[in-house]
Order: sequence, then structure tokens, then C-alpha cells
Amino acid sequence: MREHRIAAIPADGIGKEVIAAGITVLETLQQRCGDFKLILKTFPWGSDYYRAHGRMMPSDGLVTLKNFDAIYFGAVGDPQIPDHITLWGLRLAICQGFDQYANVRPTRILPGISSPLRNVNTGDLDWVIVRENSEGEYAGHGGRAHKGLPEEVATETAIFTRAGVTRIMRFAYELARSRPRKRLTVITKSNAQRHGMVLWDEIAQEVGRDYPDVQTDKMLVDAATTRMVGKPRSLDTIVATNLHADILSDLAAALAGSMGIAPTANLNPERRFPSMFEPIHGSAFDIMGKGIANPIGSFWTAVLMLEHLGEAEAAARLMQAIERVTASQSTRSPDLGGKATTQEVTTAVRDAL
Ligand code: NAI
Ligand code: MG
Repeated sequence: MREHRIAAIPADGIGKEVIAAGITVLETLQQRCGDFKLILKTFPWGSDYYRAHGRMMPSDGLVTLKNFDAIYFGAVGDPQIPDHITLWGLRLAICQGFDQYANVRPTRILPGISSPLRNVNTGDLDWVIVRENSEGEYAGHGGRAHKGLPEEVATETAIFTRAGVTRIMRFAYELARSRPRKRLTVITKSNAQRHGMVLWDEIAQEVGRDYPDVQTDKMLVDAATTRMVGKPRSLDTIVATNLHADILSDLAAALAGSMGIAPTANLNPERRFPSMFEPIHGSAFDIMGKGIANPIGSFWTAVLMLEHLGEAEAAARLMQAIERVTASQSTRSPDLGGKATTQEVTTAVRDAL
């Protein structure tokens, strides 16, 4: 029996609700498949831990996590704690500490789900956004001076390194090549940002020479938003910086039906460290504790995790179960216009399995 060690970190808000749901679905899946075993350990890190200990995870948290094959993550964010503390204290600490430089965000319209775009249906919007996840605008480089004084200043410096840009471009080209349409759109803003973004463009071109079979185009980030809305069929694989892809992928999720559906993988492609899998949504202050969060995003996240672990058959089986539930339209959560609770959607997916 193949074994995989999974660290579950539900963390905050609806993260707790959807990861609990995901774990029960994974348990059912294991029983049905019978040829692999997930050894799952849940860590109570996050904002409650912060209130008790003054930090989001123990100081040796990464040392503990390093022994796992993958991390199944919920979301951080607490109404009482500033967002930069919760984000940097846990999620970004793991992404950066484990050099999870490739953030992969597949988006498509699942069967039975309607897009807010008119005449855009399943199959018309099928994208993978590749987000640079280790530097760029979220490098954490900068500082503040004259704190609290009238002349106070803050700087936030985006960092683009040749090594960092080259590896994400290569990753994006490989992914684009593996998809049927072999098409890559490089998102940039090199008209206004004339240093980092120009290096980004130059390296995209250099790396692109090794992939003559991949059809490439370049697009300014602002124009890319209009193309996503107006011509979704013209896009396939998209590569963008940390900030640009953060924004574009929320738009992508909304265009595909709901923030509650989209998954993401924070990958260390060389597998020197565990990779981390999470729904793209946050802790959702407005619905937390109500039991109505859509758990589909955390289920699709589990699919990405299983693929990464080499369990392709189990991953496909779970994806089919998810799509059967979305297609039937009988069990849908409020974000999709229905009345079903997290628990009811979870039960429906387990029954489909
Ligand atoms: P959010 O993703 O938590 O919520 C945005 C909207 O989408 C809300 O109306 C929410 O109810 C809805 N939504 C999200 N997930 C849903 C689900 N599964 N089912 C149904 N509806 C869903 O983003 P927001 O409000 O900007 O941030 C709230 C907190 O989450 C903040 O503290 C933020 O920093 C944090 N955050 C954390 C992330 C992470 O841990 N990866 C990612 C995004 C935000
Ligand atoms: Mg985001």
C-alpha cells in the first residue's frame, strides 16, 4: 500500500470548515480506491494559536512540516488581527520557506455551473494561471522611516531576479506544452514599470526560444482583464507576477462561477520541500461559522494534491465525483444560488464517490 504523509493546516474562518470537509472526502476516497493511504496530521496553527502564543505557528514549524509529503491548507485571516500578520506569519512563511515558487491555479467552468459571462459555458473558459510565488511585488522588501511623524515614508520594492524569472517562465512553458492547445500568454506591465517588468519580458523571450511549439503572446495586465472577460476562449496558460496573478486569478475564479470553487497548488517543482495545496479563497469573514461555505474549492484542491503525490487515478475519480455533483445542480451552496450547507455538499460528493 502506498503511503503519503499529509500535514493539514485548516487555520482560520471557513478554512477550518472546508478542510474538515475535504478530509472526510479524502477518507471516503481512500476506502473506495484501497491502494493508497494518507497519513494525515492536523496542526492547530493560525489566528487562535496567535492569540495564545503570540505567533501563527511554532518557531520550528517548518522543521516539523518538512517531514511531510504535502500540506493541505485552509486559509488565514482574522477580523481582530491585521492581515499582514496572519498572511506573513503562516501562509507566506511556508510558501517562501519551502521555495514554493510556482503557484498553479487552474480555472474552468465546471459542468452545471454558470459563468456570469453571457454565452460562456463549460469548455469556453479553461485556463491555468501560473503565478510567480517567491519574489516580485511580495518579496517583502522595503521599510518604513519617520514612523508616526508627518514625513513618514514607506517603500515596497518589487524584486525580480534572473534566476527567479527564468525558472517560472520555464515552468509555465512546460505546462503550456503539456496542454492540448499549447498556448502561453505572458502578462506584463513593462510600459509603466521599466526595470523589473522589462527583465521579465526579456527572459520570457529567451526561454520561449526553447519552446517553438508553444504559441506565445504578451499582454499588459490591464488589457488582460478585458480579454479575460471579452474573449475567454483566446486564453489557455497564463504566466504572471505575484501581484498580477493574485488579482487575475480572483477575476478568473469569479468568471468561472464562484470564489468557492477554485483551487491552487504552491509547488516546489524540484521537490526539495513539500508543496502546499489550498483553495484560493480566504477566511471569508462574512460567512464563517455559518456552515455554508462552498467546500468544492477544497475538494478540487485535494485533486491537485493527489496528482502531485502520483495518485492520478484517485485524483481523476474525485474530480469526476465533484463534477457529477455540480452537474446535477441539486446540491449547491448559497454562493452558487442554492441552499445547501457545507455538510450537504460534502455528503453529496461522498455519495458520488
Ligand atoms: P475571501 O476569499 O475570504 O472572501 C471573498 C468573498 O468570497 C466573500 O464574500 C466570501 O464570502 C466569498 N467566498 C470565499 N470563499 C467562499 C466559499 N468557499 N464559499 C462561499 N463563498 C466564499 O476574501 P477577503 O474577504 O478579501 O478576505 C478575508 C480574509 O481572508 C482576509 O483576512 C484576507 O487577508 C484573507 N485571505 C487569505 C487568503 C489565504 O489564506 N490564502 C487568500 C485571500 C484572502
Ligand atoms: Mg488572492
